[in-house]
Amino acid sequence: MTSYHIPFNQASLAGNEFRYMSEAIAQGHISGDGGFTRKCHALLEAELGVPKALLTTSCTHALEMAALLLDIQPGDEVIVPAFTFVSTINAFVLRGARPVFADIQPATLNIDPAAIERLITPRTRAILVVHYAGVGCEMDAIMALASRHGVPVVEDNAHGLFGKYQGQYLGTFGVLATQSFHETKNFTCGEGGALLINDPGYVERAEIIREKGTNRSRFFRGQIDKYSWVDLGSSYLPSDILAAFLYAQLEQREQIQAQRRRVWEYYQAHLAGWADEHGVLLPAVPPDHEQSYHMYYLRLPSLEQRQALIAHLRSRGILAVFHYLPLHLSEMGRQWGGRPGDCPVTEEMSDRLLRLPFYNSLADAQLAEVVAALMSFDGL
Ligand SMILES: Cc1ncc(COP(=O)(O)O)c(C=O)c1O
Repeated sequence: MTSYHIPFNQASLAGNEFRYMSEAIAQGHISGDGGFTRKCHALLEAELGVPKALLTTSCTHALEMAALLLDIQPGDEVIVPAFTFVSTINAFVLRGARPVFADIQPATLNIDPAAIERLITPRTRAILVVHYAGVGCEMDAIMALASRHGVPVVEDNAHGLFGKYQGQYLGTFGVLATQSFHETKNFTCGEGGALLINDPGYVERAEIIREKGTNRSRFFRGQIDKYSWVDLGSSYLPSDILAAFLYAQLEQREQIQAQRRRVWEYYQAHLAGWADEHGVLLPAVPPDHEQSYHMYYLRLPSLEQRQALIAHLRSRGILAVFHYLPLHLSEMGRQWGGRPGDCPVTEEMSDRLLRLPFYNSLADAQLAEVVAALMSFDGL
């Protein structure tokens, strides 16, 4: 196994993680929905201004909850960008949905509103959007077309917590939105996620789905005297020990975001001239967007050059990685009719994209080393 002295990702502690985990244990409530879970809910609700936030065991599980809440039935069509992680659509396919793959825009790698418009049919039951790298999709156009067709929008905001589009937080546009607290994300508890509920009409059922299909949340609030099985559901709530870890990170959100911004801006400033000269594209953040500083990526002129650059960086102990393979060309995507050429921008960008090491504690000396390694690549 190759060892890397500059890994792609490295978890960092914000400060109070172990103290809060010990407190959760001392409080005697380490299953779900204890004191730290409530603190995380309150923080997310207050900061983002969402009616309800519910921690989940992963973003994948928050997406599964969204599919259950929207009552997705076999044969329902769900529009999804072809350039995303499998969970975005798998959660809906689990309910029997038929995935309909939309292409992305080359500037931001986000779903193209014009593609959505072309793909909407009377069977469309949901539009899924992904704010790639925490740079918002064109939500004004998407929300307008969704409301014209009466189709709900779900934001997979795995990358975009605290990013904004036209001054509004990502995750607050669709009826539902999902967050990830996986170890590669800005804020983490190892594995974790959240469902943001922007339409209060979904809150009660979401609590039931998250608690194994029971009305246990109402019971714990003293609203009913016994709880029972009332709906579909599963166990989507994380241990309060994980919530304690996460709360320590969310509490330090300004410091964490500042560290990540420093990394992003270092790359952007130090790579601009080199990129221009060698036909490499740097990420674009349009003016009315505030990004979440989740990742930094390059687009190389070709797949061959991208692969050669990965190998070059590896030889210097630096791990850089490609990202999503086009979903419509995956084994599952092809079973749903996906063919080469269906989503040409996704196919091209997937070949050319390279993600650079990106984590909070990446120091200037290491950043300088990555930049020097890139510049010493003679394959461009
Ligand atoms: C866009 C997107 N959605 C969902 C997920 C899944 O997140 P989780 O690992 O929290 O289930 C990922 C994972 O990286 C992702 O990139």
